[in-house]
Amino acid sequence: MLTTKYNYIREGYVSPRGIGTPNFADFLVWANCLIEPMTIESKMTFLDYGCADARLANFLAAHIDSFKYYGLEHPKSELVKYSNESIFLKDPRCKFGLLGSEMEKEALKKSKYVVLGSVFTHLKIGDFHKMMAKFKDIVKKKNGEVVFSVFIKDKYEFESHSGVYGVPNCISRVFYTERQIEQFAKKNGYVLQEYESFLAQGSNLHRIFKISKPVKKRKNEKN
Ligand SMILES: C[S@@+](CC[C@H](N)C(=O)[O-])C[C@H]1O[C@@H](n2cnc3c(N)ncnc32)[C@H](O)[C@@H]1O
Repeated sequence: MLTTKYNYIREGYVSPRGIGTPNFADFLVWANCLIEPMTIESKMTFLDYGCADARLANFLAAHIDSFKYYGLEHPKSELVKYSNESIFLKDPRCKFGLLGSEMEKEALKKSKYVVLGSVFTHLKIGDFHKMMAKFKDIVKKKNGEVVFSVFIKDKYEFESHSGVYGVPNCISRVFYTERQIEQFAKKNGYVLQEYESFLAQGSNLHRIFKISKPVKKRKNEKN
């Protein structure tokens, strides 16, 4: 069980929609699982891709003073209205926008840290590759990090129910294989690290991974 390091959250806001983790204790573990793998630094610019009601913005706001946050949602997602209602719209550190918009371009240009909490648990593997390609410059050129959760099984599987949240390619549940994730990292020359898992409602374990760029060894450095 993860020891939650960040245990405070701004009063009056605990992901009111309860997407995935309706109670506070679960939410804290979820947020810690997603934030803990990142190299937290001051002035970090953070992209929450598929942000829903931006509950991670709240969490960051409670712990980091100098962060900037971009929350992006799919234009067809029913959850856009929650981002629009978010108290963080009034917070100058936070910006929200839609995928495919100018805001997405700005977010991809300016962010160094990307988080996708329970987004790939709804997307087929082809969409995983397409989405991850967007973050290539963040990892390779800016030395950034991408943290994401996935469901893993021995065999690639997805449920037939699509259009979840109103998004056409959003499937009720998708399971990748470890090999698919490992091969993706290998092919792109990324370092793949796994962190503490999270058991959301039901029996599916969210496995938390981070990709980053390999650290270059100095000339005289030995293994
Ligand atoms: C289970 S919710 C997780 C929300 C949020 N990341 C969190 O942890 O609270 C899944 C999110 O993925 C978004 N999503 C689904 N399909 C997407 C797509 N093709 N592109 C971007 N986001 C998508 C949904 O709109 C929804 O906000």
